[in-house]
Amino acid sequence: MKIDLAGKVALVTGSATGIGRAIAEALSASGARVALNHFGQSGLIAGLLDALGDGARAFDADVTDATAVQHMVAQVEAQLGPIDILVNNAGILLEKPFLELTENEWDRVIAVDLKSVFLCSQAVLRSMQPRGCGCIINVASELAYLGRAEFSAYCAAKAGVVGLTKSLAREFAPAIRVNGIAPGPTDTAMLSLDQLSPAWRIKELAIPAGRAAGPEEIAATAVFLASDFARFYYGQVLSPNGGALML
Ligand code: NAI
Repeated sequence: MKIDLAGKVALVTGSATGIGRAIAEALSASGARVALNHFGQSGLIAGLLDALGDGARAFDADVTDATAVQHMVAQVEAQLGPIDILVNNAGILLEKPFLELTENEWDRVIAVDLKSVFLCSQAVLRSMQPRGCGCIINVASELAYLGRAEFSAYCAAKAGVVGLTKSLAREFAPAIRVNGIAPGPTDTAMLSLDQLSPAWRIKELAIPAGRAAGPEEIAATAVFLASDFARFYYGQVLSPNGGALML
């Protein structure tokens, strides 16, 4: 089974690091031209641009800012052509006891993890819908289903991503496929001890697989969902999670 995305244009948000970077690399390796969204990470993106070659372009934009998102989508389409594949990947994590969570912290997590999916999807769907084709892949989390003490804003946002994925899948089917991915623990900066307390880091790895995923293992799911092999998938949230959650 060979996935061929030649002729397709993909936009990946938050692609300077981690899972987004691996998704951008995998889409490019499958033949897509890739628009690399980042948020002020020009240094990191420069190396990725070199590695991906002529088909890739970088776009610096805060995906929580509606004007910046609209401008980015217009620029991507002007430089690479209409967007066939949107991967809403950008995200942040916040570990904090619920009673200490400030309104600003709540708003920021919801903005980056959920509002960005609304903004980017709406901007891209405005041109996908008239063309009558395309696909959107939203990166949620296993924590959307499990919940977790001291991660309330993140879990609420990711559960919102799952609901939004299913709603858009119904609203834009059959021409446009909207699906999601709910990864388990994945070895990126988000899972580092800068982001997680040691106790949670240990619990994260106590799953049947006994290890965190590599970002490329999550990227493989994204490439599949973007491909014609997934043409009967609508509103599905696939779970490469090492057995952390078995539904
Ligand atoms: P990461 O921290 O390496 O990647 C997140 C990316 O989002 C960063 O490049 C960051 O610059 C970007 N970003 C943050 N705010 C942004 C903004 N306002 N505008 C544009 N870009 C912005 O972490 P990772 O793990 O690669 O996360 C990617 C996605 O995977 C996130 O949505 C995360 O919630 C999700 N995820 C990660 C898991 C893990 O264990 N690492 C597990 C489940 C889901």
